[in-house]
Amino acid sequence: MISEEIKKKIRGIVGAENALDSDLDRFGYSYDASFVPLLPAKKPDLVVRPATTEEVSKVMAVAYEHAIPVTPRGAATGRTGGSIPLQGGISLSLERMMKIVELDVNNMMVWAEAGVRTIDLYNACAAKGLFYPPDPASWKFSTIGGNVAENAGGMRAVKYGVTSNYVMGLEVVLSDGTVLQTGGKAIKNVTGYNLTSLFTGSEGTLGIVTKVLLRVIPMPKKRGTLQLMFRTLDDGCTAVHRMLQSGLVPAAAEVMDRFCLEAVAKHRKTQHDPAIGACIVIEIDGEDDEALALQTKRMEAVAKECGVYEFRVAQSQQESDELWAIRRGISSAIASILPNRLGEDISVPRDAFPEVVRRIATIAEKHKLTIAVYGHAGDGNIHPSILCDLSKPGEEERVHRAVEDLFDVTLSVGGTLSGEHGIGITKRPYIAKALGESGVKTLGAVKQALDPKGILNPGKIW
Ligand code: LAC
Ligand code: ZN
Repeated sequence: MISEEIKKKIRGIVGAENALDSDLDRFGYSYDASFVPLLPAKKPDLVVRPATTEEVSKVMAVAYEHAIPVTPRGAATGRTGGSIPLQGGISLSLERMMKIVELDVNNMMVWAEAGVRTIDLYNACAAKGLFYPPDPASWKFSTIGGNVAENAGGMRAVKYGVTSNYVMGLEVVLSDGTVLQTGGKAIKNVTGYNLTSLFTGSEGTLGIVTKVLLRVIPMPKKRGTLQLMFRTLDDGCTAVHRMLQSGLVPAAAEVMDRFCLEAVAKHRKTQHDPAIGACIVIEIDGEDDEALALQTKRMEAVAKECGVYEFRVAQSQQESDELWAIRRGISSAIASILPNRLGEDISVPRDAFPEVVRRIATIAEKHKLTIAVYGHAGDGNIHPSILCDLSKPGEEERVHRAVEDLFDVTLSVGGTLSGEHGIGITKRPYIAKALGESGVKTLGAVKQALDPKGILNPGKIW
């Protein structure tokens, strides 16, 4: 509980209209996109929406003095419960900090406040011929601050990497309200520990990211989209794998299995061709039409070797946009098949990808569960999604055992629990398995040093 006196202090900092404590407002800030009904969702005592770094700093100073838990929040598109205020306290929303502070075309760098939407940043850069590649599926809603907190990935990671590959510097408010700036515009920088990397992916547990300095690159001149249909998921995965092995570098190579395609068909009230077991959507880019044509030809040859059922090149921007919209909507489409969906985010070495997908089918069979598979085939980050009905007797236990098996398979091939969604609440129980005792201890030491009172996003990662 936060006393009236403290609330008054915070209202004095951000204004009464930005420190909300009605039941409805508190409810609105109590959940994210993880949609796991078992999460012990907890309402914050107070929703605070600062407009400046100075306000964030002052709010943190108050929180620190009174040891009030603070859960930072972007657009709450997270999948692991990162912005759920598990211990109540303050939900610190960065939604009002949405200015692009500087677009430095000469240095190809951009400073953006944490609440800037990913797509707005992309568009602002594109207007100057610049390209910000990380494109999480939720980029129309997600914010840069949230992307940094989770080190978000996306479709284009296969060629262009993830958020951390673009973060050059950060402005962070520490747990006691101190404002820290890390990194800078110098491309090379080995001055002390790499604090920029440390905060990127720290899930709001080490500090509040208020501004982000990102590098951008020249916008590719041409882009194309390909749609490849295969009879089996295995054929589709093998085709992507062989393309990569042969030196082809798609900008994105996404996979959707039969369950996903059926869900899309249901959603769009169309008929799914039962002969099709997997769809691969590929983005290619390059200097000119010839470069695209050459890549297309080589990809088609590999696809044919793998028995492709249908190979289509999108003929218009509209067609291409539609294909990507379908892919971005998959997660929501499959969630409607059964009452519950447990979406995982495993990431495995590229080489192990087809084998892991085969093993997922074995796990589904063993536990008599439906596991839909979609995700970023090109970089080995897949989202096996267990579609289930947790109200059925024994279902929860079977789901739990299937998740254990899934993580065991992932770790056995040198993979990891999360490629882009973070640990949050949902993957907490497995972190020791993934990092080992010394790994967890080292994380704990960093946490203790930066958040000695344990007020920053408590209950997450551990
Ligand atoms: C996706 C999200 C769930 O790839 O990461 O659709
Ligand atoms: Zn994803």
